[in-house]
Amino acid sequence: MAGIPHDHFEPKTSGQRWLHSRLPVVGLLYDTLMLPTPKNLNWMWIWGIVLTFCLALQIITGIVLVMHYTPHVDMAFASIEHIMRNVNGGHMIRYLHMNGASLFFIAVYAHIFRGLYYGSYKAPREVTWIIGMLIYLLMMGTAFMGYVLPWGQMSFWGATVITGLFGAIPFIGEPIQTLLLGGPAVDNATLNRFFSLHYLFPFLIAGLVIVHIWAFHTTGNNNPMGVASGCAKAAPTVVVSPALSTAERRRAKLIKDPRFPFMFMVMVSNNRQLVGRQMDYHSGRTFRQPIRTLKTYAELTNSK
Ligand code: HEM
Repeated sequence: MAGIPHDHFEPKTSGQRWLHSRLPVVGLLYDTLMLPTPKNLNWMWIWGIVLTFCLALQIITGIVLVMHYTPHVDMAFASIEHIMRNVNGGHMIRYLHMNGASLFFIAVYAHIFRGLYYGSYKAPREVTWIIGMLIYLLMMGTAFMGYVLPWGQMSFWGATVITGLFGAIPFIGEPIQTLLLGGPAVDNATLNRFFSLHYLFPFLIAGLVIVHIWAFHTTGNNNPMGVASGCAKAAPTVVVSPALSTAERRRAKLIKDPRFPFMFMVMVSNNRQLVGRQMDYHSGRTFRQPIRTLKTYAELTNSK
């Protein structure tokens, strides 16, 4: 299978071997979790995990809410009141679901902004990006339909206005709006289909998230320098090629030293062999640079 190189799961005990030859599920988990990531990732790479947490939180709290909610125009509002007043911990579950939705969007905007800033949308991660955009569209639809479910004034008029936007599309707008509403106006049919789709979409999102994770596990993660993982090792501001002599490698180990940032300034001015040409890491070129055009250490030293 295509993907970035890394070690694979080797079953050790006879029990592991028995299962592995029949259903390599432990191997799948191992390969997923033990994937090497660039060591210079910064905190902007946490948002994917935050989003995964949000999705799980929304699905779990949503399923509990549905146990007490009634999708009918005469009972929806009252069933929400019931959740808030009578159901044990109901208010907490509802607030987790409501505020969880806000956290979900804060996280997704940070995640998208990270992708734009560091060029994670560029080759070879276009498919990860496109799947991300599909996820984002589904998220917006899910959130909108969820907002309608309490069937308060804001829900009703929200449904009227947003479906009205579709109605404004020339020629095809009106049939689309009628289809969305399930009739000529916001009514029980609207509430019912919104409830049904609000329940369905998170599971579609979960399916897309699996493909999203599969996609970036195939290409490997991007990193703040935009250097391809595996072709050159990256420390915060330095590029070191794996094709180093022993002496150079010894010097390169300095990078792991906590005193490195202080020594680095000296090295920048004195040791071009280790850090490459100043132009190539100081200017904005290194950041957000397509991987293919970034030179390795070997190329830098040969091209003088
Ligand atoms: C439910 C929503 C989403 C979940 C659970 C999710 C999950 C993840 C995870 C776990 C990662 C790896 C860790 C990280 O880089 O943060 C990731 C990477 C990525 N995501 Fe998402 N994501 C979601 C939505 C999106 C959206 C809306 C976009 C853009 C339109 C997007 C674009 C990307 C890109 C380009 C990467 C690769 C970044 C890299 O390799 O450095 N994702 N995603």
